[in-house]
Order: sequence, then C-alpha cells, then structure tokens
Amino acid sequence: MSAPTAASAVAASAAALLRELLSDQGRRDPYPVYARLHELGTVVPLPPDGKHAAIVHGHDAVGRVLRDPGFAVLDGDYLDRTSTRWREHLAVQTMQNSVFHAGGDRLARVRRLFGQVFSASRAATLEPVIERIADRLLDELAAAAEHGAVDVMARFALRLPSDVIGEILGVPEPDRAGFPARVKAFDAILELGQRSFRELRAADTAAAELTAYFAALVAERRVRPADDLVSALAADDRLPEPELLANLIVVFNAGFRTTANLIGNGLHLLLQHPDSLAALRADPALAPSCVEEILRFDPPVHFAVRFAVHDTEVDGVPVPEGRTVLILTAAANRDPARFADPDQFDPTRTDNQHYAFSAGPHYCLGAALGRAVGRIALPRLLTRFPRLALAAEPAARHQFMLRGYDRLDLLCGTAS
Ligand code: HEM
Repeated sequence: MSAPTAASAVAASAAALLRELLSDQGRRDPYPVYARLHELGTVVPLPPDGKHAAIVHGHDAVGRVLRDPGFAVLDGDYLDRTSTRWREHLAVQTMQNSVFHAGGDRLARVRRLFGQVFSASRAATLEPVIERIADRLLDELAAAAEHGAVDVMARFALRLPSDVIGEILGVPEPDRAGFPARVKAFDAILELGQRSFRELRAADTAAAELTAYFAALVAERRVRPADDLVSALAADDRLPEPELLANLIVVFNAGFRTTANLIGNGLHLLLQHPDSLAALRADPALAPSCVEEILRFDPPVHFAVRFAVHDTEVDGVPVPEGRTVLILTAAANRDPARFADPDQFDPTRTDNQHYAFSAGPHYCLGAALGRAVGRIALPRLLTRFPRLALAAEPAARHQFMLRGYDRLDLLCGTAS
C-alpha cells in the first residue's frame, strides 16, 4: 500500500475535524475546532466522497470566496442536478424562491426592491421607533421581573426585533406572537448537517402556514393599502407572487431570529465579562464597538455554502466545478492571522472587520437594522436593570445557523 499523499492526509484530518464539529460537543463549543482548523491552513480539502470539496475558514480566503463570482449560492438548477426530491418540500421551495438563493438579474431586482427599505439611512430614521418599542418592552419586563426570574429571550430579545420588522412590513401586532414557533420550525432546514424527516415535515407545515398568512396579508393590502412595505410590494408587479411571498417570509424570519440571538448571545457574554458590562452600562457610546465584538466573537450565523461554477482553487486547494465549499464565517472571525488574541472578548477592539453578516452579493440586507437594534437594546437593558444577573446557566446551544439561547432566565432586580 502506498503512503497517503500530503493532500489526502490533510483531507483526512479535515474530515475528522468536521465530524468533531458536528458532534454534540462540537456543536456546543465549536471554537476549539475552529482553532485547530486554523493550524491546518486557511482552506482544507475534504475527501472526494464527502458532501463538500473543502472547508474555507481563513479570514482572507472567506472574504475572497464570498465575493468571487466563480462561487454561487445553491440555486434551483444546482438542486435539480443533485437531488430529485427538493420540489416536494415547500420549505426548500420557499428558500429557493427567495433572495437567499437567487443570482443574476433576479438577485439584483429583489435587492433593489428591499434594499432601500433596509438601507443604513433608513435604519437611522427608524431609531426613535426602535427606542419606543424597546422602552415599552422594558416596562413590561420590569413588571414581570417583580415576580422573580424572567426569560429575557421570550420577553425582550425576540419581541423587540419582531416588533420592529413587524412595523416595517406591516404585520399587525396581534399576529406577531404566532411567528416565533413557526419561524423556528421553518429555520430547521437551514442547519448544518442532516435533517430528520420529522424536522422537514414541520418546516413544510410552517412554510405552508407562513405562505398562507402573507398571501392573505398581501390580498388585504391590495384592497386597503397602508404605509408599510407589504402594501408597497403588493402594489408593485415586478415580483411574481410566489417570489413576493417567499421574500416576505424570509425577510421577516431573517429579520428577527438573527437579531434576537445578537441580543441574547451578547447579554450572556456581557454577564460573563462584568468589566465590559460595567463599561457599557457607564457609557452607552461604547455600544457600537461592543455590538461589533459580539458579532465577531459569538455570531448568530456561523457558516455559508457556495458551489464552484467552474473548476477553480482557493489558496491552492482545488474545487472542481459543481462541488460545494463549506465557508466557516465564524471561524474566520477567530482567525489569529487577522485578529490579535482572537479568543479574547474585547469590546474596545478596533479594526474589527468580521463576517457575521457575510460578504459579497448576498451580504446581509438587514445589517444596518440589526446593528441599530443591538446598539439600542443592550445599553437600555443594562441601565434599566442595574443588578442584572443570570438566574440559571442557559441550556447549551447546538445550532450553527441562528445560534442562540432558547431561553435566558435573568434576575432583573429593581431600580429602587
Ligand atoms: C444581527 C442580525 C443579523 C445577522 C447576524 C444576519 C446575518 C446574515 C447573514 C450571515 C447573511 C448571509 C447569508 C449568506 O451569505 O448565505 C444574511 C443575509 C440576509 N439577511 Fe441578515 N442578519 C441579521 C439581521 C437581518 C435583518 C434585521 C434583516 C431584515 C431586514 C435581515 C435580512 C437578510 C436578508 C433578506 C438576507 C439575504 C440577502 C441575500 O441573499 O442577498 N438580516 N444575514
């Protein structure tokens, strides 16, 4: 038997690390695996019979692949070549009809339509709205906290972004409570690794309910327009109906679970770093750099997947046409070649160019809004509750997509 080549030895090590990443322990704490990947280089090949051709995790390499037109999101044509069953799943179809899996003219059209609404200048004009909603929710939280520990995820972190995006889209307030469970079921199809049949079925049911909901809302706004995004899009015939509904679903979904996890992950991090928490409480002007560091250090989204549209290579690792690469954006955020002391949470860090919002043509449409919500929510919560403390250590997180706490029980104390 001949000795394995250097490339196949690296591929075997990378495959072992990927298995470790997807294990229970790796899902709980992926950062030690990311650190070992960095020791292997910036890009590592995987064995030819695996799902992906390579893992891309170095900071520069991640940025290059995400911006490279030679790599594309997995669109319908790609899925048709690799799977015969995807059209049976409404949840997968919904994602496919949305901006997330669009390319070319379709991508440009949707991003133009939604882009204005979620621009940085629009996010700035929304700040008073975000502050008003945050203060109302904090009043409710304070009332509930008088009776003991409160789950800040359910009562604040999820509700704030859901109410903000609900206002923008025009989803009436009483309807919003029905979203978190459905959105969670829908989002299960985005997770890294295998999905069970039960998860797929639940995602399809959620997709059917969300589609029916937005179809009724669009029909209603066509008859009685209001000053909101659903009315504007309902009056515009540039998007075919299935694409319009799919994009409303994903924008609503993407708009609130990500931001909720920024708030929840951030709060937990700050409670573990009392000096940083005290500094932010004393000076809310630190909020922008604190939010960036939370997004670098413990982001809600850890990965993206792209396929090679032609034979190519990344940092010397070949990627044949049609093969996918697993892009670990959260690992890039901890690249020791890019960040000093990458495993140190340091909200005073400058030059903090992370990939929490991805990069290139699919760069997050709601980045400005997500940042604004985080920057407003965290200091307000800390100043409102001067004795904030964990009531219980939260259950471990296992997701790479929408990584966050299911619940975060806090003792809020009172301002007496
Ligand atoms: C902290 C909050 C947020 C984080 C961490 C986040 C993260 C991301 C990431 C990583 C992507 C790119 C996925 C890829 O490259 O495949 C993305 C795309 C997207 N995000 Fe966000 N997001 C956040 C907030 C929001 C908000 C508030 C909205 C709603 C307006 C939003 C809407 C979208 C949309 C529509 C896309 C798809 C863009 C495209 O494919 O062209 N996101 N987001």
